[in-house]
Amino acid sequence: MGGGGRVDVLRGVSLEIPSGTTAAVTGPSGSGKTTLLGIMAGLEPPSSGRVVLGETDLTALTEEERAGFRARHVGFVFQTFQLLPALTALENVQLPLELLPRSERPDRRQLRERAEALLERVGVAHRLHHLPSQLSGGEQQRVAVARAFVARPRILFADEPTGNLDAESGARVVDGLEELNRSEGTTLVTVTHDLELAARSDRVFRFGAGVLESEAALP
Ligand SMILES: Nc1ncnc2c1ncn2[C@@H]1O[C@H](COP(=O)(O)OP(=O)(O)O)[C@@H](O)[C@H]1O
Ligand SMILES: [Mg+2]
Repeated sequence: MGGGGRVDVLRGVSLEIPSGTTAAVTGPSGSGKTTLLGIMAGLEPPSSGRVVLGETDLTALTEEERAGFRARHVGFVFQTFQLLPALTALENVQLPLELLPRSERPDRRQLRERAEALLERVGVAHRLHHLPSQLSGGEQQRVAVARAFVARPRILFADEPTGNLDAESGARVVDGLEELNRSEGTTLVTVTHDLELAARSDRVFRFGAGVLESEAALP
């Protein structure tokens, strides 16, 4: 890292998201939204403070334990889709289940049925055996949404899931995300610049320069 030295990205941030609700995180570019999501999802530890998901204090776990916790309980949708290019849509969605320890892994048939059902519900059933490069951006992101739900996570984080999409493809991604979230009863945390999307969430957290500027619970 050129220049070295330490930069505090988030300062004094404290927030609580009730289980089963939806939350939106908004704020200008560089305000720390992605950093916050990574910390809440257990992708990286905070330099100080605590992150508790359900009964589990993520900050008390080793990196390996955090990885196991994420695999079982946390889903993530990235702005840039992050599908594996050499795997088909169906294989991408099955992968999180295949990575579970053998004792927790469904059998082949169940695994495939679960993945297919999710792809159907996000409207990509006709693209099961296509590679990501053969799909539109919106289709890729809907595959990524199906993948995020496949292991039945308790909480799902989406970082600007429509940021790389046109309005129409973005709307279909959001429909899929909201539909699955409702039917699976997941807690959903979405970073978004889309105020309409934010307004559909139970809570909106607004950031500025690493500080939580406001929190609104919507009626
Ligand atoms: N690994 C890193 N090392 C140093 N600075 C970083 C790192 N990641 C992010 N930052 C800085 O932290 C701030 C917040 O980044 P980020 O969380 O990506 O913001 P946002 O998602 O709101 O655009 C930015 O100023 C960014 O340059
Ligand atoms: Mg970001």
